[in-house]
Amino acid sequence: MQTALGVVILAAGLGKRMRSSQAKVLHRVAGKPLLARVLHATQRLHPDRLVAVIGYQAAEVQRVCGGAGIEFALQREQRGTGNAVLAARSHFCDFRGDILIVCGDTPLLTTATLNGFIQHHRARHATLSVLTVCLDDPASYGRVIRTSDGQIHRIVEARDATAEELAVQEINTSIYCVQADFLFAALERLQPLNAQGEYYLTDIVAQAVSTGLPTQAVRAADPGEVGGINSREELALMEKTRQAQLRSHWMAAGVTLEDPDTVYFDEDVTIGQDTVIGPNTHLKGKTSIGARCHIDGSAYIEDCRIGDDVHVHFSVVLSESELGNQAEVGPFAHLRKGAVLAARAEIGNFVEVKKSFIGEHTKAKHLSYIGDAEIGRDANIGAGTITCNYDGFHKYRTKIGDRVQVGSDTTLVAPLTIHDDVYIATATTVRHDVPAGALVFNTRQEAVREGWTAAKRAKEAEKK
Ligand code: UD1
Ligand code: CA
Repeated sequence: MQTALGVVILAAGLGKRMRSSQAKVLHRVAGKPLLARVLHATQRLHPDRLVAVIGYQAAEVQRVCGGAGIEFALQREQRGTGNAVLAARSHFCDFRGDILIVCGDTPLLTTATLNGFIQHHRARHATLSVLTVCLDDPASYGRVIRTSDGQIHRIVEARDATAEELAVQEINTSIYCVQADFLFAALERLQPLNAQGEYYLTDIVAQAVSTGLPTQAVRAADPGEVGGINSREELALMEKTRQAQLRSHWMAAGVTLEDPDTVYFDEDVTIGQDTVIGPNTHLKGKTSIGARCHIDGSAYIEDCRIGDDVHVHFSVVLSESELGNQAEVGPFAHLRKGAVLAARAEIGNFVEVKKSFIGEHTKAKHLSYIGDAEIGRDANIGAGTITCNYDGFHKYRTKIGDRVQVGSDTTLVAPLTIHDDVYIATATTVRHDVPAGALVFNTRQEAVREGWTAAKRAKEAEKK
């Protein structure tokens, strides 16, 4: 029978060194909270049990990172990493097998590395294995102290280390694989005899070694992957690393990045083949972009669904919107929540669209506000058209049919229905529904006062 696998993720700490009012594990890399990243990497191991130990902002952490198969254990006081694992004990009462321990602040961990580590632990029949890595600058990490024959002896925290120990470059990644019965017995025996007065998980290594149990220190190949985040600076470095990985990933998948270093991806973004992305483009949230699209550059695109062959001209902000195949948007356009462009629709310069459907091949190319509207196909919305959707109390909808021609500088006072094939003359304020095929215009002619300018100037001159 295969040995059972449990996972414990330590995520109860505030993360003092972040100097934040937000729990450290809720800070994000490539748009995804640190803890959610670690959860996903460990979920793909298909563990029999997955427990995250939370404490600081527990409710919020659980809300943001919770999901099927994830259990949460509460560590009421943050009394150290050893005490944190102990807080998960009640979730493992009847459990026999290995427990993988990882920290919630190690966001770039991959499932492959964890898998390799667990296989190594099992192949050596180890009671305890710890994943280590050698760093040029071991900074504040715990140091891995080995005996002269290369066996692991113990781990010492930087704060408690001698000068000689501090010179050691092999560090503790805080990723462990431990047999469950040894683990919880060892945690019971921990003493907070160190500079921080905390119960250190690291001390179980010396316990295993001194009782003669098989103990392994396994070196990871890639230091970048196992690094923890303790400060804003480390967070920024991790972000950089992840962005570089995502750029490589999308280029390998057939996406052209004209200036890769200035294109920023969130983790869950997807992009089709032969799409070209210009400089200074931010792709956020759950944005998906189809094949053969062209995004000229300086674009901020969040939670949008973009079809195939779409052209996003220079400088746009698009959020929570949908763009059909061959649609065009920009330059200088703003699509807000609930903007839906059917195929071949075109939204141009200085046009804002909110919570509106724009029908197939319908165009609004200049200086318009379209809000709470539904527009049919093959319509044209002239420059300076405004849907007056809000009276200060309520929002109202505007419906515009197929093939409607809306003249420039039109004011559409909602609620309003303009039926198919209507012509709206330029500079019309439309307050009432218009039947299909009609022309609508305001009757008042412009008044002309001849000689008015000269008279006005003379009057102003008199005042001086
Ligand atoms: C820890 C290790 C150190 C290792 C480093 C790797 C200890 C004592 N030290 O140090 O050897 O090199 O990780 O990144 O284990 N946490 C709790 N409850 C607590 C304390 C911490 O849940 O009471 C959680 C934190 O939220 C964090 C993780 O444990 O996710 C690690 O804690 P942190 O304070 O960052 O430990 P380090 O000082 O980095
Ligand atoms: Ca840490």
